[in-house]
Amino acid sequence: MLSPTADTVRLFLHVIAASIWVGGQFVVAGIVPGMRRTHPEALKTMAQGFGRVAWPAFGVVVITGMWSLMEIEIQNTSSAYQATMLLKIGFAVVAGIAAAIHAAGKSKVAMAVGGALGALSSVAALFLGVLLRANGG
Ligand code: HEM
Repeated sequence: MLSPTADTVRLFLHVIAASIWVGGQFVVAGIVPGMRRTHPEALKTMAQGFGRVAWPAFGVVVITGMWSLMEIEIQNTSSAYQATMLLKIGFAVVAGIAAAIHAAGKSKVAMAVGGALGALSSVAALFLGVLLRANGG
């Protein structure tokens, strides 16, 4: 069997945290409409519970992402790789800001735009992460 290394642990932590951050948003989006109809009073509790899991996961994504950046010697990678990396980090920043606006927002527009932009940017960051990995360096 193959042996895990520090690189395996770094990528594993990045990917499992990204899965929780991205997957959790879709699960919550699937639950909210029904819950709004049947148990609207429970929405706030659910949103707070989601935040307690999702934000630490986002923190792990950012920390392990910075750890990866230090490991890959970005100056020795192709300009296409660097441009993709820049775009990916941009999407991650937008995802964090949009999700924070969604979480703190009071208006329907802030909630809807923040939520949708947060989820889409997160998926874009995930896709670009896989693209980077598949075309490393
Ligand atoms: C919403 C935020 C993010 C998501 C969903 C995400 C997701 C991913 C995924 C799925 C991979 C591919 C891993 C693999 O195929 O094994 C990846 C790779 C990577 N990510 Fe992220 N990521 C995010 C944020 C960040 C941030 C903020 C940084 C840097 C500060 C970062 C840096 C990296 C690096 C450097 C790699 C390549 C690692 C390598 O090839 O060794 N990511 N990311």
